[in-house]
Amino acid sequence: MKIDTFKTEEWMNKYEKYAKYDMTCTCVNSFSLEELFKLTETDLSDFLKTTLDYGDITGSDELKRLISGLYLNKTPDNVTVTIGTIGANQLVYLSLLEKGDEVICVIPTYQQHYSVPKQLGAEVKLLKLKEELNWHIDFDELKNLITDKTKMIILNNPNNPTGSVMSYDELHELTAIADKYGIYVLCDEVYKGLNHYETDNKISIADIYDRGISTSSLSKTYSLAGIRVGYVVSNKAIIDEINHQRQYNTISVSRIDDYIACIALRNGDKIIKRNLKTILEGKKVLMEWINSRDDFSVVEPKAGTTAFLKYNFNMNSTEFSEQLFKDTSILFLPGEAFEFDKHLRIGYCGDIENLREGLNITSNWLDKNLKTAGIN
Ligand SMILES: Cc1ncc(COP(=O)(O)O)c(C=O)c1O
Repeated sequence: MKIDTFKTEEWMNKYEKYAKYDMTCTCVNSFSLEELFKLTETDLSDFLKTTLDYGDITGSDELKRLISGLYLNKTPDNVTVTIGTIGANQLVYLSLLEKGDEVICVIPTYQQHYSVPKQLGAEVKLLKLKEELNWHIDFDELKNLITDKTKMIILNNPNNPTGSVMSYDELHELTAIADKYGIYVLCDEVYKGLNHYETDNKISIADIYDRGISTSSLSKTYSLAGIRVGYVVSNKAIIDEINHQRQYNTISVSRIDDYIACIALRNGDKIIKRNLKTILEGKKVLMEWINSRDDFSVVEPKAGTTAFLKYNFNMNSTEFSEQLFKDTSILFLPGEAFEFDKHLRIGYCGDIENLREGLNITSNWLDKNLKTAGIN
């Protein structure tokens, strides 16, 4: 079955490893095993006794217990463990969608959310978040897209690339609409837990809606993309249906990964504290840079690790990013890869000095090249 090119992944695979200033990364400084074990004061003797069989097929009891504890009124029966959020999303689509269904996918988002449903034969309607609403949904537009064939609404909250967070009221408005028509809501919550403001909404879709399906992982919030542990949380009937499908493509996740995920979740507060420190420092550097430029603007990101920068000069975002990369080894992600030109995604949560230096060099490059080319 043919599928569209995954534009962000193709871009990163092509350039990321050669970039001196990598502005595309969405993880907060990933842990080494050494740093993780030190921060969490882990005694390794038990770990070394791990038997390398398949382990519990849908995830160890302890892991599912820890994951269910991140949600309201959920038990391990409401959880299945997957290979990353990407595996979780894939299983949801394979389990619940079929040819002829309609889905509404809110963009900008991770491309999997519209290309896989399309590949499965669903009609995909894209609903754009509105920049003038600080990257939130226009609910009238959403209502206009619903028909009697709408099977699923697909969200990513907190949102990559914009860093917007749906409020409690917005989530309720959305689930009230979905409930009226019996529609599933899949919410990719891979940035859950990385809210920049204590007061912003932290509720998951699976907390408030029976047909709500939350997917997430340890990749971003816990800086452990290398263990490839993700999960789906939903009502028991949906989890059973997903497990039925899951037999064919997962068996189990690595026992080593399961073990490390448990360590991280038991120490979630410490890890999130570490990560938020870097996120807020990086955001400060970014906002100072934005304020120093009249050709760039941004809606302040409220969660996660990325922001979606808007520029006002007349150059296509892919061409711009390619030219900048060629001249300076600074890598942004072109907005075109998210179906929004004249934007760039920046991940601002890696090494802070590298970020500061990269942005300064970007400024020099812009001032020199755009003026010379008469673009500004
Ligand atoms: C919104 C979103 N969903 C899913 C993924 C995949 O993450 P994972 O490592 O959990 O598979 C990413 C990775 O960047 C993402 O940004």
